[in-house]
Amino acid sequence: MNILDFSKYIIKNNCREDNICIDFTMGNGYDSLFLSILVPKGFVYSFDIQKQAIENTKKLFLEKGMYNNIKFIEDGHENFDKYVKNFNIGIYNLGYLPKGNKNITTKKETTIESIKKSIYLLEKKGIICITIYRGHGEGFLEGIEIEKFIKNISKEKYEIYRYENIKNDITPYVIIIKRNRL
Ligand SMILES: C[S@@+](CC[C@H](N)C(=O)[O-])C[C@H]1O[C@@H](n2cnc3c(N)ncnc32)[C@H](O)[C@@H]1O
Repeated sequence: MNILDFSKYIIKNNCREDNICIDFTMGNGYDSLFLSILVPKGFVYSFDIQKQAIENTKKLFLEKGMYNNIKFIEDGHENFDKYVKNFNIGIYNLGYLPKGNKNITTKKETTIESIKKSIYLLEKKGIICITIYRGHGEGFLEGIEIEKFIKNISKEKYEIYRYENIKNDITPYVIIIKRNRL
């Protein structure tokens, strides 16, 4: 199963239709659309720093049928707690906008700032899926910082899993953070 299919499989199996979700990296909107369909009685907050991403995503939603359970937010995910507090499902699909400007990419400092906040605001039994693209410079550095950070997370409160192709160390991989009942 490829990385993105794996994340979706995990999310589908841990999500209820009234859940609050966050797409921390909207991009072209495919993850946002997936979440929006998954939670017809819930809500999705979707973040990106690029106008282009918001435009592409709105276009996708118009084509596929407009859903009214989503808010598109032009702001960095490190500020997400200004818009939403507790949530159940989060997706980080790090890197740059596919077919967009490769110089505008997620950065380790803001990614870590956002993940730190997100694990505290994650509801019990909630899930965060982080896809890390270690095949490009900034993505590789983000991976190192994320690994350092998760080593120090309480193992009583959180379960942390990793899914990767161990035969190819430049392909993307996924970290899943699950909050326990505590
Ligand atoms: C790999 S793309 C996401 C793909 C997307 N989830 C999809 O389904 O198409 C990564 C996105 O993260 C955005 N990004 C970069 N820094 C960000 C930040 N601090 N906060 C939110 N989004 C950011 C980029 O602009 C880019 O659109």
